[in-house]
Order: sequence, then C-alpha cells, then structure tokens
Amino acid sequence: MIVLGIETSCDETSVAVLDGDGRVLSNVVSSQMRAHAQYGGVVPEVAARAHLENLPAVLEEALARAGVRLEDVGLVAATAGPGLIGALLVGLSAAKALAFARAIPLVGVNHLEGHLFSAYLREGAEAPLPVTYPFHGLVVSGGHAELVRVEDGAIHPIARTRDDAPGEAFDKIARRTGLGYPGGPIVDRNAARGRGDRYPFAIGRTNDGSRDFSFSGLKTAMLRELEKRGIDGSPLDPEALPADLVDLLASFQHAIVAALLDRVDTIHRDEGARAIALSGGVAANTELRTALSAWGRKHQVPVLLPERCFTTDNAAMIGWAGLLRFRREGPADPVEAQARSRWPLGT
Ligand code: KG4
Ligand code: ZN
Repeated sequence: MIVLGIETSCDETSVAVLDGDGRVLSNVVSSQMRAHAQYGGVVPEVAARAHLENLPAVLEEALARAGVRLEDVGLVAATAGPGLIGALLVGLSAAKALAFARAIPLVGVNHLEGHLFSAYLREGAEAPLPVTYPFHGLVVSGGHAELVRVEDGAIHPIARTRDDAPGEAFDKIARRTGLGYPGGPIVDRNAARGRGDRYPFAIGRTNDGSRDFSFSGLKTAMLRELEKRGIDGSPLDPEALPADLVDLLASFQHAIVAALLDRVDTIHRDEGARAIALSGGVAANTELRTALSAWGRKHQVPVLLPERCFTTDNAAMIGWAGLLRFRREGPADPVEAQARSRWPLGT
C-alpha cells in the first residue's frame, strides 16, 4: 500500500510518500520562512494562503520523487490539529477531496502524535525501527514540551510546559541576542564551542511539586544577563561572537537540556521507562541528543533519536502516524476528520 502524508499545520507545506511498511519514499518540505520574515513571526492568514499556493507543486514533487502516481495511493493521512485553523483546513480539505475522489481511506492525524512516532522513521527508504510498547515520548518543539507514556492504542500525558516551549525559548533568546531566526540551530552551533558550565542557571521546576516543565524563569534570567552586557538585539554576526557570550549561550542551552533530562530521570524513577523516543524541532539539538543517549546508556534504557530530517515539521511523520493508526483502527469516516486548532495528546 502507498501512503500519502500531508502536513500544513503551521508554516511548512509538506507532502510525503511512504510504503505500507513505513519506508519513506519521498518527503518534500517547503518552508514559508521568507513569507513571514518581514512580519517577525508566523501570520496565520499568510500561512493559509501560502499553503494553498504551494500544496499542488509540493504534492506533484513528492509523487515524482517517490516514482508513484496519484492512482497508486491507497491511504491519505493529513494533519487535522493542533495548529492554525486556516492552515490546517488547506491540507485536510485537499486530503478529503483526494479520499472522496479516489474512494480511499483518510486518517486525520494529531500533529503531536506525528512527532511522537517520528523517532522510529529512517532516512533513505529504509524500514522504520520496530515500535514496541510501552515507551515514553518526549516531544520538544517551538510550540510544545510534552512528556507522555505511550501504550498500544493509548497515549497518557505526564508533563507539559506551563509557559514557553523550549524551541520558543531558544528563538526568543536568539532574537534578543541579535542572532536571527530560528534560534535553536544558531545557539546549538555556538554552544558547541562554549563552556556550558560557566553560568549555572537554575533548573525550571514548578513550585507546586508537579512534573510540568517551565522555561520562562530561565528565559528571564538569561534576558537579565544579556541586559547586563548591553546586548539589545541589534544584529550580531553569529559566527564571530565574543567568548563570554558564547559561554553564556552554551550555559543557557545546558540549562534547557538539564531540565529535560531531570524530568526524564524523575519519570524513569517513578514509572520505569522501557524506552525513550525523542522528537520535535529541538530534538535536532546536539547537546540534547548526546546527553539523552548518555543517560540511556547509564540507565540501560534504549533511547530513540529521530533522524534530523524528521525533527522539524514534515509530512513523513504524519503519514507514519496515520499508517500506525490505520493498522490499529481501520478506516474512519472521512467526514469525521475535522480541523482542530487545539487537540491535546491522548484525547
Ligand atoms: O517541530 P518544529 O519544526 O515546529 C513546531 O512544531 O514548533 O520546531 C521548530 C523549533 C524552533 O523553535 C527551532 O528553534 C527549534 O525547533 N530547533 C532547535 C534546533 N533546530 C531547530 N532547537 C535547538 N537546537 C537545534 N539544533
Ligand atoms: Zn511540530
């Protein structure tokens, strides 16, 4: 069976083609970054229009790269939420039209569920890693920090962020440092040559004893450090930063990684994790990948790291999550797939 994945929840228009075993035959991602750059953030109306303009060409390219025709597709999986409603409607409506026209099943996929299972996908048309349940999933992106326990057919939320998502913290700090957008990769590159132990920031914990994440305290502490140094967001050359600033950025990144590891460690102590699957845009972060792998070796817990091409928003993960759901639940009524701007995991 050929699976078509469609992702239009935010500012990437993406279409992917997978085979029935979850091999990714193509995964085309068209970023709208330039369309939004002039506004300093994603504009929902601009995103929806850009999806509408880009989707036909992205679809054609995904089919061509995979060497399949539209007639070969046996299952369509499209992101139904959470995300920008106008943006979601573009991909989901296209998917519905395809499903009706070709009389094939449609699965409306939760974007976060897509991230969650992306750690199992392999690049280069290789078969995905076997998914064994239960596992714990850590989704860290520009919009989310979610720690969940995944059973076959059920997702149980454990912790989420109370304020900023880690990617959002990276982006805001990078912008206030004058380093441009997106901030994660720029901080990542600089931190690699800095001393992350130079400025010890406190690990964000909520003060009510919950296991939720909180990154706004860290962000505020970091903003104060920048202010002290007279850094006001005027553009800086990210490749030529002074050593002290490089150390500060490395320390900031280290604090985010430490907070994530702290919570993974707590969950493992409380529940005994069988495996940890990392995902989301921030899963591309070098220190996070290294530290979580080391943690896994130390505690003898298998750690699944997503290939970097499947960390940021992409349709391959949507096709894969849709395929897993379809295998478990069979065809759903396409009319029931409704776009939802809010859609918490596990509901
Ligand atoms: O998953 P994603 O594409 O979009 C959301 O669904 O939010 O994640 C994008 C986020 C951005 O905030 C970006 O700064 C962050 O992922 N990111 C990184 C790295 N690469 C991307 N954060 C830290 N280190 C990286 N290497
Ligand atoms: Zn995402």
